[in-house]
Amino acid sequence: MVDLLNKFEHHLLDNLPKYNSFHPEFNNALSHILMAKAKRFRPMLMLMVVDALEPLLVDNSLDIALGIEMFHTYSLIHDDLKAMDDADTRRFIATTHIKYDEAMAILVGDALNTHTFNLISNSSISDSSKIEIISMLSYCGGIGGMVTGQAIDLYFENKKLSIDEVKFLHIHKTAKLIASSLKAGAIICGCSDKIKNNLYDFGINIGLLFQIQDDILDKTLSSDSAGKDTNNDDNKNSFVNLLGLEESNNEAKKIYTKLNSSISLFDNPIKSILSNLLNKYITII
Ligand code: IPE
Ligand code: IPE
Ligand code: MG
Ligand code: MG
Ligand code: MG
Repeated sequence: MVDLLNKFEHHLLDNLPKYNSFHPEFNNALSHILMAKAKRFRPMLMLMVVDALEPLLVDNSLDIALGIEMFHTYSLIHDDLKAMDDADTRRFIATTHIKYDEAMAILVGDALNTHTFNLISNSSISDSSKIEIISMLSYCGGIGGMVTGQAIDLYFENKKLSIDEVKFLHIHKTAKLIASSLKAGAIICGCSDKIKNNLYDFGINIGLLFQIQDDILDKTLSSDSAGKDTNNDDNKNSFVNLLGLEESNNEAKKIYTKLNSSISLFDNPIKSILSNLLNKYITII
C-alpha cells in the first residue's frame, strides 16, 4: 500500500497540470491544493484494485488515478469558497481563494474538473474502459452525485432534514465518487458486471461511513490536526447535528459492521484489499 501511494505521489508531481502562458500565477494556483498533503483515498481505492487483479496495468492506470484525485480536489476547492463552506484552510495550507482570490479558485476548480476528462481520454487503457469510466465519473461527480449533493447540502443549511434525507445527501455529495473510484479499478481490469456492481455498492457504504466520520471529525478534531477548518458544520445537516456525537458513533459502528460482513461477498484478493481499506481509512472505530 505504501509503495503504491509513493508511486501515485511521484506520478502526481511529475504530471502537475500546467500550460505555457504569460499568466504569472495560474500554473502555481492550479497545483496549490492538488500537491498539498492529502490522504489520496479515492485514487488509492482504484489503484489497489488494479494492483491486486492486474498488476501489469498499474502504470497505465496512473493517469486515471490522477484524474480522479484532480476531480476530488476541484470539488474541495469549490466547497471551500465563501459562497459555499467559507473555509480558509485545506490540506494544512491556505485555501486557493485565500492564497490567491475567489476568481482564481473558481477557475482552478473549473480547470481541474475539465482536465480530469482530458487525462482519462488520453490515457493508455482500452477505449471501452475509458468511455465507461468517463460516463460514470461525469455522472456520479455531477448531477447524479456530487454536484446535486452539494446543492442539497447548501440549500438546506439551517433547515433540518430527516436522517434518511441526510443519508441521501451524504451518498450523493461524497459516496458516489468514492464508489466510482473503486469500480473504476474493476472496469480497468475487465471484471464481470457482478464484481463491478458489488464493488460499487461496497463503495457507497464505505463512502457514507467516510462522510459520517468526516462529520464526527469536524466536531472532535482541531483545525491544526485536521489540516482544514473544523467546527464548521454548525448550519449543516451533519450526522452530529442530527443525532449527536454518541448516536453518530453508534451509526458509524453499525455501517462498519455491515461493511465488514459484506466483504465475504468477494473472493481473494479483493477480499483482503477491502478489509485493508476499511482499517486504513476508517479511523474512528
Ligand atoms: C474531504 O475528503 C471531503 C470529504 C468528502 C469528507 P478527504 O477527507 O478525502 O480529504 P483529502 O483528500 O485527504 O484532503
Ligand atoms: C464535502 O463535504 C463534500 C464534497 C463534495 C467536497 P464537507 O464540506 O463536509 O468536506 P470538508 O469537511 O469541508 O472537507
Ligand atoms: Mg461542504
Ligand atoms: Mg466543507
Ligand atoms: Mg466536513
